[in-house]
Amino acid sequence: MATAVRSRTGPATGFPTRMLIGGQWVESRSGKTFETINPATEEVIAQVAEGDAEDIDAAVKAARAAFETGPWRRTDARDRGRMLNRLADLIEENADELARLEVLDNGKPISEARHGDLPLVVDCLRYYAGWADKLHGQTIPVRGNYFTYTRKEPVGVCGQIIPWNFPMLMVAWKWGPALAAGCTIVMKPAEQTPLTCLRLGELAQEAGFPDGVINIVPGFGETAGAALVEHPGVDKIAFTGSTEVGRIIMRNAANTLKRVTLELGGKSPNIVFADADLDAAVEGAILGLYLNQGQCCCAGSRLFVEEPIYDAMVERLVERAKSRKLGDPFDPTTEQGPQVDKTQFEKVLGYIESGRKQGARCVTGGKRWGQKGFYIEPTVFADVKDEMTIAREEIFGPVMQVLRFREVEEVVQRANTTDYGLAAAVWTHDVGKAHDLAHRIRAGTVWINCYDVFDAAAPFGGFKASGIGRELGEKALDNYIELKTVTVALR
Ligand code: NAI
Ligand code: MG
Repeated sequence: MATAVRSRTGPATGFPTRMLIGGQWVESRSGKTFETINPATEEVIAQVAEGDAEDIDAAVKAARAAFETGPWRRTDARDRGRMLNRLADLIEENADELARLEVLDNGKPISEARHGDLPLVVDCLRYYAGWADKLHGQTIPVRGNYFTYTRKEPVGVCGQIIPWNFPMLMVAWKWGPALAAGCTIVMKPAEQTPLTCLRLGELAQEAGFPDGVINIVPGFGETAGAALVEHPGVDKIAFTGSTEVGRIIMRNAANTLKRVTLELGGKSPNIVFADADLDAAVEGAILGLYLNQGQCCCAGSRLFVEEPIYDAMVERLVERAKSRKLGDPFDPTTEQGPQVDKTQFEKVLGYIESGRKQGARCVTGGKRWGQKGFYIEPTVFADVKDEMTIAREEIFGPVMQVLRFREVEEVVQRANTTDYGLAAAVWTHDVGKAHDLAHRIRAGTVWINCYDVFDAAAPFGGFKASGIGRELGEKALDNYIELKTVTVALR
């Protein structure tokens, strides 16, 4: 059992690097492994078993067996809840170690991993633990001498594919409702960040989940991920990641008619009116964009500021962006770490270049930070126009676009002129205006005078190209349930 992440930088040991299939920790069938990199140092942390179609097949069979014939099937709902609570307790007991492992693999600051992500992970699992024995059906008055009722049954074997930006939190969002509902799981973590997911697999075994209920196959999207989506033994796919891959998944899941839920990208408008509390709006804009190195699907990456306060707001944002502390993500005072990998780093720098070329004004940042690690300076672009690439595409980095507006109608229309619809925020003291905008903006979440407020009980998900379905809250349970209607003839 792993107990410590021994090294901050060099090769680290003490955590699983093999795959979890049917309760066994195994190498890949092919014997292949892949490197996972520490993005702060660009050094290899470990070699991880690389899953392929064959491994996915073995994992799906294990999950199917666990679903159809294993002890899980006979486990009382209340005991499923107890296991989820036990897993939450174990995560809490091992929180320091898990946070360090997350930082090592992902590069996010330790303060965020430990005090941001982890409490949300624990809370999410406890929230769904409470739901396990509350998935009631209904009795339905029908015509005739019949008794009709519904049952909420687990959908079956769930393929879950997650990204690298919040590795542990994405595990919790996926496992919580699936396990509460009584499903079994084959999870494919992101190739950039497989380590904490595997460690959570160990803790799940310790929490008492029977063999085969949770299977974890690390590997790449085009191989392991695609095999999971196409496998006829999988009943449902839950995916979080890029809109581009979301489209591929929906197409590839069609042959086998899998249930599909998708949490995809965003280009969320953050709208600041002149009557807002400027201090709070500045902090909200900074948090809403720079949190997690800007690698948030709900990042407030189009900051619309009302004309009278535009210049003052830009000045304040520049000041705050400049004061952000970049550095070693293991330093508890660090506020910004590196981007997750070289691909993302180069993609973000490419967007900065395009912003400059298309005539936006780079008022701070705009370059790599330091010589080693995938760090990018907190960047602010002012005078951004709606048609510029940086105002339309998801950048997924510490790059803020500040746009100017004059009228309410204008800003509603511009905010909605996007293929995405994940989140939005409105800053104003005018309560009527705030709710009016909240109703008219086509997005799954609207924050008023706040940003990035998440709760396990509050549903989250996208309109339009930002996805299908909702995670969190009572709503997410539906993703993992088949409703059955039973009718009996009465005498
Ligand atoms: P991605 O969408 O390619 O990867 C997300 C997950 O999907 C990973 O586990 C990956 O292995 C898997 N995957 C990739 N191709 C697949 C396929 N054909 N079939 C099945 N699974 C597949 O995202 P990537 O390449 O890491 O990042 C690209 C961009 O996506 C980012 O720059 C960002 O804009 C966006 N993104 C959005 C996220 C969100 O939370 N909405 C999270 C991560 C990335
Ligand atoms: Mg990709």
